[in-house]
Amino acid sequence: MTEREGLVVTIDGPAGSGKSSTAREVARRLGFRHMDSGAFYRALTYGLLDAGVGPGRWEGLTTPDLEGVGVSVQPTDMGFRVLLGSRSPEAEIRSSRVTAHVSRLAGLSVVRSWLLGIQRDAGRAGRLVADGRDMGTVVFPGAEVKVFLTADLPERARRRLTEQGVVGPSAAEIVRETARIGERDRGDSERELSPLRCPEDALELDTTYLTFEEQVKAIMERVREVDGLLRQA
Ligand code: CDP
Repeated sequence: MTEREGLVVTIDGPAGSGKSSTAREVARRLGFRHMDSGAFYRALTYGLLDAGVGPGRWEGLTTPDLEGVGVSVQPTDMGFRVLLGSRSPEAEIRSSRVTAHVSRLAGLSVVRSWLLGIQRDAGRAGRLVADGRDMGTVVFPGAEVKVFLTADLPERARRRLTEQGVVGPSAAEIVRETARIGERDRGDSERELSPLRCPEDALELDTTYLTFEEQVKAIMERVREVDGLLRQA
């Protein structure tokens, strides 16, 4: 039935739920490619801000405008590299400025349709672990394994701060980060297009009290189960 040669695994969830690190490790163990779709939205946001096109002008963006930003996606052995022109803006796309604005850009229909093509091309051959907000609902609705990762909001804020190198974040820092993440969650869940949703057939994992290894193992078990069933069919 499918042209693909291997499974697609999707991992969706809110900010700071550990999607990208979990997806990267699951992909490594399976020998699949990892696609961090958030990096595409972030690269486009950074490219526009860097070119002096501020959020006030985003509503009027057209597909040629997006193409003009110079964002491209290149396959690598392990996944995909996002380029802006010829450089890889890995650090810049994670800046607080980009994080504060990315949800707004991600709500635009022109942006979502443009990136949809890029993401589907990346998944055409299968053997992919894709993470984001709408991987299982919109981009790869036929994915064989779908996962939805959640965790309590303050725990996600604590993890995000630790990831940024903050050692033993204070209560005040956690409160501030909780507010920032909460606002992005609202934007991503309440938007009209491709809002953050748990796919109907997803394995839902609350990782608040799980270790990284436990959550990776739970997903690997699901993949093996589905793969075994598909081989028998
Ligand atoms: O890693 P983190 O959870 O902070 O976010 P990300 O995955 O890097 O995504 C950044 C932003 O891109 C999200 O807050 C969404 O607004 C947008 N995004 C989206 O709309 N759809 C996706 N599939 C992935 C990201």
